[in-house]
Amino acid sequence: MVARGQPQERQEQRVGRRTRRVVGNWKMHGALARNAALLDACVQRFQAAAPGVEIVVCVPFPFLAQAQTLLRESDVAWGAQDLSPHAQGAYTGEVSASMLKEFGAAFVIVGHSERRAQHSETSALVAAKAAAALAGGLTPIICLGETLEEREADMTEAVVAGQLAVCMETLGLPALGQCVIAYEPVWAIGTGRTATAVQAQKVHAFLRARLGETGDTMTLLYGGSVKASNARELFAMPDIDGGLIGGASLTIDEFEPICRAFD
Ligand code: PGA
Repeated sequence: MVARGQPQERQEQRVGRRTRRVVGNWKMHGALARNAALLDACVQRFQAAAPGVEIVVCVPFPFLAQAQTLLRESDVAWGAQDLSPHAQGAYTGEVSASMLKEFGAAFVIVGHSERRAQHSETSALVAAKAAAALAGGLTPIICLGETLEEREADMTEAVVAGQLAVCMETLGLPALGQCVIAYEPVWAIGTGRTATAVQAQKVHAFLRARLGETGDTMTLLYGGSVKASNARELFAMPDIDGGLIGGASLTIDEFEPICRAFD
């Protein structure tokens, strides 16, 4: 288990020079009572028997205070699912990095395919959000991935390379190295259709190669219908350092075995 707190206090479980992570993405799910039960269960199960990975839950904005209260003394980190690219100002409905930071968030997801598709987020905006997160002291989890049409047209590598290139140009490699990348093929999200471990590994190896030496220390997560039944095979791949977990992060009985699927 990676204890949060001062970096020098962390007992990081690493793959070579990389930190393993499992990140729950609650999406627009949750209610106070249900969250409390899930967060309490996370605290108890993971403190009692550490799985040797950094565990993060990314909750809807209204539940950040609850996560802060219930996870404060635990080994589970928390974060948000989006943020504004702006630091402050007349941006009705937006939430800034400093606001997330005040609620103890350490991570924030940016560029999830649901936001790219449903809110017309471009790679330029995603990169600007990642920059805002870094400036505010948060670790952005930058999501990349191709649609089914793009995969079938043999464009997977071109698409993810293009998405990554915008982040590289905007942030620069040293700053990008502070981020987490999540490869999430759009066709595998919430569909029950997972990329095979070999398919996912191929894209992860491709992304890591594009990142050069910077990639040697970066956590690359896979996301898209990860479940207790397929996590072990995915996480055994040399370039897959953990997962971004949607539906299966909503119940402790599914989430816990995924967090333990590394040995
Ligand atoms: P899923 O979602 O695990 O429910 O497929 C993953 C994600 O969208 O981050």
